[in-house]
Amino acid sequence: MQNHRRRPGAALLAIAATAAAAAAMVAALPVQAQGSTAEELAKYRQMLAEGNPAELWEAAGEELWKKPAGPKNVSLEQCDLGKGPGVTKGAYAELPRYFKDAGKVMDLEQRLAWCRVTLQGLTRAQATANPFSSPGKSSDIERLVSFIAGESRGVKINVQLSTPEEKKVYALGQKIFFYRGGAYDFACATCHAVDGQRIRLQDLPNLLHASGAQAAYTTWPAYRVSQGEVRTMQHRLYDCLRQQRFPEPDYGSDVITALTMFLAKNANGGTYDGPNLKR
Ligand code: HEC
Repeated sequence: MQNHRRRPGAALLAIAATAAAAAAMVAALPVQAQGSTAEELAKYRQMLAEGNPAELWEAAGEELWKKPAGPKNVSLEQCDLGKGPGVTKGAYAELPRYFKDAGKVMDLEQRLAWCRVTLQGLTRAQATANPFSSPGKSSDIERLVSFIAGESRGVKINVQLSTPEEKKVYALGQKIFFYRGGAYDFACATCHAVDGQRIRLQDLPNLLHASGAQAAYTTWPAYRVSQGEVRTMQHRLYDCLRQQRFPEPDYGSDVITALTMFLAKNANGGTYDGPNLKR
């Protein structure tokens, strides 16, 4: 698969070094007379041609996936992400989806929590603790998500609305996308339903069109050069809800799954190319 990057290995140190160089570049950004964000991003991508630091997250996530853990001391290798127990290849490209055993539509992060509870015996609180890393505090969830998402690299997004539950969750996501509120009376659609719109030099994708939804959806999770961390789609949506001045949803909430379902379905047919790299 041409999109499949080389597996992490001896090159990790080189990656870490280029990541540090790229981070230094970002730090220097405000003082440089500069082109558009897209041009800057093209430069980081060139610098990081040797490898995306997200590969470190993927490798750590694979280890976590295979390592016995929790009160039951079993690995996640028997977790069913929708394509059968233990199948990771291509699973992310078909999520969110309806899971009969849970009786609901789940996105990757809800499903991971489900497996950590049912297979490993963790409590829900333990399985959903620390979903977003902060300085000095890494997140197992971000690592697991990076690994599973990477297992769909090169695969076309193929989210189906084949059950009534999936149709309902998609319709809910659509409703939330257009729902205006908060101090600014913004909806997702205010910023993301128009072609060619920009905010502070950042291009805002039109998430209603296949091309915009694909470009956005197929590139998360992403290593954020400005933050030195891999961020998940869940985190991206948090950040947008915050910009919208909406209340912060609970981690793994059905609101996020509904929005993810809406975006993923709109991105169907796009080739998954994450974890990617973003400013
Ligand atoms: C006030 C404007 C604003 C609102 C409202 C908003 N966003 Fe965003 N969104 C942004 C900005 C700014 C970015 C970052 C663009 C960049 O960095 O290139 C972004 C990025 C995104 C991305 C990633 C795009 C990519 O290509 O990486 C997604 C997906 C997204 N928003 C979804 C949503 C959803 C869903 C909602 C509603 C819950 C929403 N946004 C509400 C401003 C907004």
